[in-house]
Amino acid sequence: MSNRIVLKGLYLKNFKGIKELDIDFENTTNIYGDNGTGKTTVFDAFAWLLFDKDSQNISKFDVQPLDKSNNIIHRIDTEVTGSLEIDGVKTVLRKILKEKWVKPKGKPESELKGVTTTYYIDDVPKKQGEYKEKINSIIPEDIFKLVTNPLYFSTNMKWQDRKKILMDIIGELTDENVIDSKKDLKPLKDLLGNKSIEELKKSINASRKKLIKDRESIQPRIDELNMAVKDDINFQQLEVKKQEIVSKINNIEEQLIDKSKINDEVFKKKDKLYGFKSKLKDIERDELRKSGSGKDKIAEELYSITGEIADIKFHVKSIESEKNNNLNLIKTLETDVKNLRKEWYEENNKSFELPEDARICPLCKRPFDDEDVEKHKQELEENFKQNKSKVLKEITRKGSNKADEIEKHKKKISENESELEGLLKKLDDFNNKKDELQSKFDNFKAVVDLNSNKEYQNTLKQIEALETELSRPIEKDSQVDILKEKKQNLQMELEHINQDLKYEEINDRTNARIKELQDKEKALAQQIADLEKQDFMCDEFIKTKVKLMESSINSKFKYVKFRFFKAQVNGGIEEDCEPLIDGVPFSTNLNSGARINAGIDIINTLSNHYEIKAPIFIDNRESTTRLIDTESQIINLVVSGMDKKLRVENSSEVEETELAG
Ligand SMILES: Nc1ncnc2c1ncn2[C@@H]1O[C@H](COP(=O)(O)OP(=O)(O)OP(=O)(O)O)[C@@H](O)[C@H]1O
Ligand SMILES: [Mg+2]
Repeated sequence: MSNRIVLKGLYLKNFKGIKELDIDFENTTNIYGDNGTGKTTVFDAFAWLLFDKDSQNISKFDVQPLDKSNNIIHRIDTEVTGSLEIDGVKTVLRKILKEKWVKPKGKPESELKGVTTTYYIDDVPKKQGEYKEKINSIIPEDIFKLVTNPLYFSTNMKWQDRKKILMDIIGELTDENVIDSKKDLKPLKDLLGNKSIEELKKSINASRKKLIKDRESIQPRIDELNMAVKDDINFQQLEVKKQEIVSKINNIEEQLIDKSKINDEVFKKKDKLYGFKSKLKDIERDELRKSGSGKDKIAEELYSITGEIADIKFHVKSIESEKNNNLNLIKTLETDVKNLRKEWYEENNKSFELPEDARICPLCKRPFDDEDVEKHKQELEENFKQNKSKVLKEITRKGSNKADEIEKHKKKISENESELEGLLKKLDDFNNKKDELQSKFDNFKAVVDLNSNKEYQNTLKQIEALETELSRPIEKDSQVDILKEKKQNLQMELEHINQDLKYEEINDRTNARIKELQDKEKALAQQIADLEKQDFMCDEFIKTKVKLMESSINSKFKYVKFRFFKAQVNGGIEEDCEPLIDGVPFSTNLNSGARINAGIDIINTLSNHYEIKAPIFIDNRESTTRLIDTESQIINLVVSGMDKKLRVENSSEVEETELAG
């Protein structure tokens, strides 16, 4: 960046409303002209040459001349050339804007295809980038705006950006610097930690709000608890009364115990009577059982003899069937013998006869001769006799066997018969015995003799004695009922007293809770007070910081002072960064002359800070009579009614009257 830029000359051609103008500048140059003569256009041209914008920082403005109907006047070039002395070295910057006319094929007329800008540095054409780089090396755009236009800082910038620049100028003022500057702020060091003062203030206020809310919620709770406390009960008195009633109840209970002893004895006697009566029943049952045992015996015998009779009957039946069996077998055997006999006679009556085929040889089928026939006949006859005797023998053997068997069975039958005779006789005896027992059983009569049972008679006597005793009327004690009623009433009263006495404990608990809440309220109040103290300290910090800042910043300016906080209608304060002249804010009430001088004062400081001085264009310079000193080049744009054309005057000392126009 350079240190000093001086505008030596400016040449405008077809720039906005100016057809052609060539101006030479000195350290102070006055450009006079009536309204609309093109004073501001000169500043616009200088701004456009450097940054493609007009003096008001607007990039979209009509650079090319317009006709009366607001149409661009075509086919002329717009040019601005500036001769600058940068740190003593002359540099010529030029920018030419040309329209691009192209004649399309087959069309008679050329068409406008936009505009091109060519850049020159010291008559050497440059690319846009190179040109911009050069300008940036001479003066960055944001600094150019600040140091060439006295109103830019105060009217075109946001207060936050203004403040930032001022902070840059005075250098860093840390929170620690602020705290160290005032003894009262010391505690803030720990409170702040890593927080900013704004964050701390916010957190203090949030906590304070919460604590206040907490504290406010306590009183209604205390009120409620106070209402719940029963303070109309004399607990001491109640305790005394309770003791009295308890002792009264005890007294009645003792009396009642004595009375109830009579009843106890009656109960005991009744119990005893019941015992005796059940004992009597036991004896009766015992005796009855004893007398009934004879009949049981008969029943037992009867049962046993019935069984035996059934056995005998079964035995008789089985022997009878055995006998029948033997009889049937004998019959069969006798039939066999009869048949054998018949067989024997038949066999015995058989005689030999020569068979027909006995005369022919069975082998050669030729008849035997007579001798042979005789021989053969004898042989056959012998055979026949032998066979017959064999068969007869066999039949005789079989017959004698069968006869033996018949004998055996006959013997068995006689055995069966003699056994049957014995059994039937026994059965007869047993049946007689059974009949005898049955009639004994049917006619049995039990005899119970309780008169001779001593124990039974004794028990009877005891029962009689007890019953006579118990039948005697018991004297009813009317006092018992009275005592019981008294006791009941006293107990009810005691219950009421106990109920009330419970309140003593409840009251104690409630009062303890009230105390707790009151303590909490106190603690909260203390915490709130502490926070308020902290909040106050934060405010003190801010005030101190502002004061330090202000004094530090204001020391950098000759006339202007800065306001960093402004009071709001609602009583609060709002951050700000407003230039003041004699306490009057720049943006509102300040007069035009003062505004220009404030702007120059600010430019002086900024130029010192950025270490660069550039020409200051002072529009409406006629509004101030005395301009404050500045080391920068001054270009006064003065409204002058008599100058219908721009008039340029270079002088180191401009007459105040002249300026006033
Ligand atoms: N592109 C343009 N083509 C033609 N004329 C233009 C163009 N732009 C602006 N003008 C005219 O140029 C004239 C000069 O304007 P300029 O603002 O420079 O005047 P001025 O001297 O600063 O006036 P004032 O004293 O009122 O500030 C104006 O009348 C304006 O209408
Ligand atoms: Mg103007």
